[in-house]
Amino acid sequence: MAHVGTDVHKAKEFLEQGEVIGLPTETVYGLAGNALNPEAVLKIFRVKNRPSFDPLIVHTDSIAKAETFVKHIPEKARQLGERFWPGPLTILLPKKTIIPDLVSSGLETVAIRIPNHPLALQLLSVLDFPLAAPSANPFGYISPTTARHVADQLGHQIPYVLDGGSAQVGIESTIIGFTDGGPIVYRLGGMALEKLEAVVGKVAVRSHSTSNPKAPGMLSSHYAPRKPLLLKKPAEILATYKPERIGVLSFEELTHLIPAENQQILSVTGDISEAAKNLFAALRALDTLDIDVIITELVPETGLGRAINDRLRRAAFK
Ligand code: TXA
Ligand code: MG
Repeated sequence: MAHVGTDVHKAKEFLEQGEVIGLPTETVYGLAGNALNPEAVLKIFRVKNRPSFDPLIVHTDSIAKAETFVKHIPEKARQLGERFWPGPLTILLPKKTIIPDLVSSGLETVAIRIPNHPLALQLLSVLDFPLAAPSANPFGYISPTTARHVADQLGHQIPYVLDGGSAQVGIESTIIGFTDGGPIVYRLGGMALEKLEAVVGKVAVRSHSTSNPKAPGMLSSHYAPRKPLLLKKPAEILATYKPERIGVLSFEELTHLIPAENQQILSVTGDISEAAKNLFAALRALDTLDIDVIITELVPETGLGRAINDRLRRAAFK
C-alpha cells in the first residue's frame, strides 16, 4: 500500500529507481514516472490501465529544460509559456528523440507543462529528468484532486503519494498546439481561453472532435462517475426516481425537492474558479452515496465555466 507523505527526497528516490508515484499539481494529481525511461513510462500505462495510443504530458520546471526535449518553440508558444508557466497550461511542441515514442504515442509532438505547485516544482528541481504524468485516476474515471483520492484508487499499485493538499485549480490543464493556421486548443482546462487570447489573439477550439480522437482527453465518455450522470432538472427526474435515490450536483443552490445530504454545491457564491476546484471531489462524493442516479446542470459558459461544462458533458450518461 502506498505511503502518503510530504518527503520530496523519498519521492526522488522512488523515481530514480524507475517507480511511479502520485504527484501533486495545481490542476489534479498526476501518476508520475521518469519520462526518459521507457520502462517507467510503461509502468504508468499499466497502473492506470490506459491504452498506449493516449499520449502523456511531460512535466518540467523551466523553459530552458523544456528546450532540451523539443526541437523548437514557436514564438506564440514561447509567449504563452513565459506568461503562464508555471501554470495550468500544456503546450504541444515538436519532440526531440530523447523523449521516448511511448510518451507521445508515436506523435511528432510532445505535450509539455510546468506545473504551479511548490512540492512538484521542488521535486522537479532536484531530478535530472522530467516527469511523464497523466492524471492519477483509472482510465475513464474522475481525476483525483487529493492525495487520498490517489491512494484509495491506485495505492495498491504504487509505493508513494506525495501529498500536496487539495489541488487549487481542480480541473486538468488547458492543452494548446500550434499549426500553420494558428493556435488550437485541444482540451479546455484550468487556463481560461480568454487569458490565452489576450496574449496570442484568436484561438480555435477543437476539443469536441469525436470519432477517432488524436487526444483521447477528447473521448466523449471520460471523467465519468460510475453512477449515471444526467443533465436534468429535479422536476424532470422525479417521475422516474424517488427523491432519496437521486444525487444532485449543482452550481450555487440546494433544491428542496431532494434530501440535502444527497446534494453537493460547487460554490455558494457562484464563483466559477471555486466551482472548478470542487468539481471532481463533489462528483466522487456523490458517486459513493447509496443512490441510483446523479443529476447536474451546466454552469455559465465563460472563463473556467467552459472547461467545467466540457467535463460535465463528457461525464454525462448517453
Ligand atoms: O493538468 C493536467 O494536465 C494533468 C496534470 C497531472 O498535469 N495531467 C493530465 O494528463 O490531465 P492526462 O494524461 O490525463 O491528459 C493528457 C491529455 C490526453 O488527453 C492526451 O491525449 C493529450 O493530453 N496529449 C498528450 N500529448 C499529446 C500530443 N502530443 N498531442 C495531442 N494530445 C496530447
Ligand atoms: Mg486524465
